[in-house]
Amino acid sequence: MVKLTGYKKIKSAVFISGTGSNLKSLIKFSKTRKSPISINLIISNNPRAKGLKLGKINNIKKKVFDFKKNHKTENQIISVLKEHKIDMICLAGFMTILSKNFITKFRGKILNIHPSLLPKYKGLNTHQRALNNNEKYSGCTVHFVNSKLDSGKIILQKKVKISKNETKGSLAKKVLVQEHKLYPKAILKVFNL
Ligand code: GRF
Repeated sequence: MVKLTGYKKIKSAVFISGTGSNLKSLIKFSKTRKSPISINLIISNNPRAKGLKLGKINNIKKKVFDFKKNHKTENQIISVLKEHKIDMICLAGFMTILSKNFITKFRGKILNIHPSLLPKYKGLNTHQRALNNNEKYSGCTVHFVNSKLDSGKIILQKKVKISKNETKGSLAKKVLVQEHKLYPKAILKVFNL
């Protein structure tokens, strides 16, 4: 668990690949008094990620890395994280798998949000897979990241009901609304707040 020292917020980085709606909700949360974290860095593997715009609007530093050169890139990221004194990482729609080496360096300090009720539907295309299996419920999970994909300790989950005429798109929207509430709640829980 990450420990809070004094009244200083824990400096955090959010890793994104796309829209960044979870990033947006995390930034909003981080600005509240009750938030134990501040967001000091946005990292993306995608130079066209819409979420990067949030960096400029909110005056948060952003960096784009080419993850194809995995090992080298991760070392560069580790340097940048150290430089910015980052002590917590929130993955939010980040579509690259981090190496075991990277994860070990930040053990217990990397969180992820996943659009399913883990351990069901790890990996991609979660909503379609839930629909294909005629699930009655789906949802989202915030969990610690370990070296196995979507398998770290679960922090919090939120269930949503799948309606009769649900489509992959409508389910994704419904789950996303809950994701935006769940991630801040999970962060509070990590800090026992
Ligand atoms: C979210 O559904 C997240 O759970 C998944 O990718 C989506 C990212 O959305 N991993 P956004 O970029 O936060 O809007």
